[in-house]
Amino acid sequence: MSRDSLTVVDNRTGSSYELPIQNGAVRALDLREIKVGKEDFGLMIYDPGYMNTASCRSTITYIDGDRGILRYRGYPIEQLAEGASFLEVAYLLYHGKFPEYTEFERWEHGIRYHTMIHEGIKLFLNGFRYDAHPMGILVSTVAALATFYPEAKNIHDPDLRRIQFYRLVAKMPTLAAFAYRHRMGMPYVYPDNTLGYAENFLNMMFHGSEPHRNRAPDFEHNPVLARALDVLFLLHADHEQNCSTSSIRMVGSAHTDPYTAVSAACAALYGPLHGGANEAVLRMLREIGRKDAVPAFIAQVKKGERKLYGFGHRVYKSYDPRARIIKRCADQVFEVMGRNPLIDIALELERIALEDDYFVSRKLYPNVDFYSGIIYECMGFPTEMFPVLFAIPRTPGWYSQWEEHVLDPEQKLARPRQIYLGPDERPFHGVDPDPERG
Ligand code: ACO
Repeated sequence: MSRDSLTVVDNRTGSSYELPIQNGAVRALDLREIKVGKEDFGLMIYDPGYMNTASCRSTITYIDGDRGILRYRGYPIEQLAEGASFLEVAYLLYHGKFPEYTEFERWEHGIRYHTMIHEGIKLFLNGFRYDAHPMGILVSTVAALATFYPEAKNIHDPDLRRIQFYRLVAKMPTLAAFAYRHRMGMPYVYPDNTLGYAENFLNMMFHGSEPHRNRAPDFEHNPVLARALDVLFLLHADHEQNCSTSSIRMVGSAHTDPYTAVSAACAALYGPLHGGANEAVLRMLREIGRKDAVPAFIAQVKKGERKLYGFGHRVYKSYDPRARIIKRCADQVFEVMGRNPLIDIALELERIALEDDYFVSRKLYPNVDFYSGIIYECMGFPTEMFPVLFAIPRTPGWYSQWEEHVLDPEQKLARPRQIYLGPDERPFHGVDPDPERG
């Protein structure tokens, strides 16, 4: 008769154990009962990189990596990209449902009217070196917000939690645009709360900029670009338990305030294997330089000498559904800004890689970062801004995951175990004398 359990025989002792299976998982703590003797600590799971460890139960985002499925609160990403706005999706992620019209008006108003940052943050920003990386500035200034809103430490008050959500989602674009303008030595453009979320960000970034080779006049107010950016934001809003989200949950498990916790998530996102990948893609495409240089580059990748950035994913083992939508966005942006020549190199890389057994057998397909950088560059964003452009829209996802974690009665302070392989106890004799001096 079938039972929802797993029977394990410990061949060291001959003992047999029955572990309950729930939601396709056994509890790691149940393994602790498996011991060779009274003094034994009990069996642990060794799982570097958390390749097969579920750290939480979540109702926010669902991914089926083999079938290329991504859903927020049950809604397929393709349908959301077609019909919803980024702020509606932010609401959905946080509340688990779409809002009624008046509810949404209140929500949008709440976010629009928290876009301003304290003048003290501006002074703080001015202290960064002229060439400081905007992601470095973002990591620090988001954390600094915690010192301006000390009440955010009160993480068990639902009203205060909602206000910090407004503040974080609203202020991320302001911090990001100020970080960019600081680097450019340009005066800050304050938020204009009459504008939509993406348009306001484009305005804070580019208002008064020198015309760029690609830029149409007044492009910061172009509705096609604002919508394309809104869709890109929506596609990046959450992605279940990735490196940065796991980081915010881990930091949040210590009941750290949400600003400092979001800063930790930004720090994780900064790494080139995670949110820094689209920056790496652009560098790679520029280095390849020409379509006919693609086969030689692919040959280097296959020899293990290079990495094909923007390809491969820990979870998706088929085409990343976000990459497919982004590819369509690219055409809309090119129509306004002119075609980015790097797209031809990217298309050729994709074509060759998808036909090559090295990539096919390893299930390596384009991920979200493969095309997003090309679009951002075409809009006039410098490559250093790419991870920042990831952090802004991921904030509602991070926050929703942080809150779910904080409110989950099963969660505890995160504290993984280790397998100690260092020396046994040994006596200390001080630093060895220098043999030269005796
Ligand atoms: N280029 C070339 N080979 C690759 C790539 C790549 N981009 N990705 C994986 N491989 C190869 C590995 O060398 C390995 O080959 P092997 O079996 O011969 O040793 C095999 O494919 C499996 O790779 P793993 O590293 O085990 O896969 P993992 O799931 O750990 O890695 C990761 C996922 C880190 C995303 C990886 O694919 C990668 O480095 N990609 C490039 C960076 C990138 O685009 N990151 C963005 C991810 S999306 C995001 O975070 C938003």
